[in-house]
Amino acid sequence: MTIRQLSRAKSLSRQSRVPFSRWRSLGLVVGAWSVGAVAWSSSMAQTVETAPEAGKPLPHVNPNGWTSSAVCGECHQAIHAVWQHSLHANAWTNGIFQAAYQRSVETYGKESARACLPCHTPTVRHGQDYDVENPITAEGVTCDFCHSISAVDLEDQADPVRFSVGKTKYGPLRHAQSPAHEIIDTEIHKRSEFCATCHEYRNANGVAVLGTYSEWKGSSYAKRGKQCQDCHMPLVPGRVVAIDVKRQSNDLVNLHDISGSHDMDRVREAVKLELKGYEWVGDRLWIHVLVTNAGSGHCFPTGMPMHRAVLEVTIEEGGTIVDRREIPFEIVMMDKKRRPLRHEHEVMMKAASVWSDSRLKPNEQREVEIAFRDIKATKLVLTAKLYYMYSTETIVDEEGEKRIEPAEMKFLLVSKQNTMKPLGG
Ligand code: HEC
Ligand code: HEC
Ligand code: HEC
Ligand code: HEC
Ligand code: HEC
Repeated sequence: MTIRQLSRAKSLSRQSRVPFSRWRSLGLVVGAWSVGAVAWSSSMAQTVETAPEAGKPLPHVNPNGWTSSAVCGECHQAIHAVWQHSLHANAWTNGIFQAAYQRSVETYGKESARACLPCHTPTVRHGQDYDVENPITAEGVTCDFCHSISAVDLEDQADPVRFSVGKTKYGPLRHAQSPAHEIIDTEIHKRSEFCATCHEYRNANGVAVLGTYSEWKGSSYAKRGKQCQDCHMPLVPGRVVAIDVKRQSNDLVNLHDISGSHDMDRVREAVKLELKGYEWVGDRLWIHVLVTNAGSGHCFPTGMPMHRAVLEVTIEEGGTIVDRREIPFEIVMMDKKRRPLRHEHEVMMKAASVWSDSRLKPNEQREVEIAFRDIKATKLVLTAKLYYMYSTETIVDEEGEKRIEPAEMKFLLVSKQNTMKPLGG
């Protein structure tokens, strides 16, 4: 393991995440980001000791259908402890998805199940539990689904995943053996194509609503062979299986919380903001700002078009805002009637074209120039701030009553300030 991976592992145990209450109040169950992180530093060691007791029958892996992640977690405790708080585990239960799914069912009817669930509750692909009656379906992107994938064929747009359900588990380890299941080692689990099966999506109109994989594919990271897993699933200290199931020599596992933009520390590391300077041209004030996508392996932002970044530039005098501009970094999609789409279910189902795309490409450094007019102030303070924004709807639960409410999340990524000379000053 490299120093970088170690420091990453360490940084994951810091608690400086999106405040729990904030996400929870929005109905999103990722409070757990911090819980999961703590698990790595302290309680992980304890959970490992409470492995299956001697003499107890082996946890039962279903040879003919899906197995609950809780069963896998009896042996793979460290992995389970972080996975269960990931967005993958909450891909069905989280309030933002639930709200969008409900809207989708209201608007487009039952076809929504076939449109949304193959990615959010992928076990429907075998067993067709589109009404989500089996509790395993509600486990979202489960252990068993990802580890039943044996191959991927991205040419097959209708269904790129090849999987086989039952007693064999597929994964990256060579020569591994388990008392509970058979094992076949694969290359695909180490490759971006594995993730592309869900993180790349063209809808019925042929619009790439989710393009994370192709954005990566065109990047310098892909050319250098840096896969999604290298950034999103680094190796961290931990046991692949509990100590009394099997002793291992190395004690490293791939981090299964697979975090992205819900980990603001990670986003802050990836995007940079620099105030280059300003100039007066006539009575016009030009501000130059440099924004860089330094560490994101795809566009920033990527994924759902509702995820946006906004650069806010303000000019102040004595604490009072004299003028202000907002520059969005976003992809905007439209329906056939050329109306911009603002909700997840609408873009997934109805996007017919891309209206604009001002996101930062991987490694892109963009100089943004903003002109202000009629600035009369004499003591100018210039502030540039970059925010991550997500406007959506979520289900809130108040004393047993569930409602859909609009939600906006806004997180400050960077803020920079300069004092300026006024015109002629
Ligand atoms: C009785 C304990 C036990 C249970 C239950 C169990 N496993 Fe395992 N599993 C193991 C052991 C032991 C290994 C081998 C570890 C090693 O050699 O480092 C293993 C290895 C694996 C591997 C690595 C394969 C590879 O080649 O990379 C995967 C993936 C895996 N298990 C998935 C699962 C899933 C999914 C479940 C639940 C459906 C599950 N396991 C349930 C004990 C268990
Ligand atoms: C989104 C898909 C996904 C889910 C969900 C998932 N895994 Fe994995 N898992 C992977 C990938 C990909 C790797 C290999 C990463 C690499 O080698 O870069 C992996 C690696 C493993 C390994 C091999 C040891 C290691 O850490 O590399 C085991 C064992 C394992 N997973 C078990 C589990 C269990 C148990 C769960 C549920 C608690 C689970 N996985 C959930 C994708 C997933
Ligand atoms: C079976 C489908 C599926 C596979 C395979 C899959 N994902 Fe996901 N992933 C999802 C879904 C669905 C979500 C969104 C869950 C939600 O927010 O409701 C998601 C969310 C994410 C997020 C966002 C987390 C955040 O903090 O915002 C990241 C990062 C991610 N996945 C990375 C990966 C990587 C890397 C792989 C490959 C190792 C992978 N995924 C494989 C379905 C999948
Ligand atoms: C060079 C490292 C790197 C690589 C390679 C990489 N990512 Fe990311 N990813 C990041 C960083 C940093 C963020 C957080 C900033 C952002 O949202 O772009 C992120 C964010 C994400 C998100 C969250 C987006 C959102 O809006 O919630 C998803 C999903 C994701 N990545 C999936 C992937 C997939 C799939 C791949 C491979 C095709 C991949 N990433 C490759 C670094 C990487
Ligand atoms: C091809 C797989 C796929 C399909 C089909 C799909 N999604 Fe998703 N969905 C994802 C992935 C991957 C993400 C995470 C994207 C990201 O953050 O970059 C996601 C994220 C979301 C989010 C944001 C959740 C959050 O926590 O931020 C919502 C809401 C959502 N999807 C709703 C839907 C609805 C409604 C449908 C059906 C109309 C649908 N999705 C169909 C893969 C899919």
